[in-house]
Amino acid sequence: MNESIRRQLNIQVTNEHVASMAYLEMASWCADNDLPGLEEYFYFSAEDEREHMLEFYRYANANGCRATIGAVPSLRSEFESVLDILEHTLFLEQQNTIAINELAKMCHEVLDYATLQFLQPFIKEQQDSERGVEELIVMVKRVGYDPKNLYFLDKQFKKMMQGKAEEEAGKE
Ligand SMILES: [Fe+2]
Repeated sequence: MNESIRRQLNIQVTNEHVASMAYLEMASWCADNDLPGLEEYFYFSAEDEREHMLEFYRYANANGCRATIGAVPSLRSEFESVLDILEHTLFLEQQNTIAINELAKMCHEVLDYATLQFLQPFIKEQQDSERGVEELIVMVKRVGYDPKNLYFLDKQFKKMMQGKAEEEAGKE
């Protein structure tokens, strides 16, 4: 495997790990602000990113590139509002999309079509994630996020997470 691809694969291992840790910090902020529905959403997201990290980790190790998790930068744990935390979520997803696209571009350049194929589902998932968070931001803006609306807003998240849990159970 090309040396630059190896390096970038490990950068992506770190990126997915950092995203997972960042979502845990967000879950904590929600717990502290009595938003159990949104808290659950961030636990779910953290688990999702951990699974991605493991997929990159395994792929790297399976292809002679010793997987390793790099340094985790200091993560944001304070937010102004529900809108602020979701806008930060969108920012993190956009950063991850840029990193995955960069890796795909490198694969093209060095004709590493196997890694490009491995990346394909992640490229699609990033598109879905960004769209999903954008929809949540629209919902939050419409419902409003001042204290008197927070109870209702959090209930919406709870409902959404119940739907996701049922979807997951249906897959098994
Ligand atoms: Fe991810």
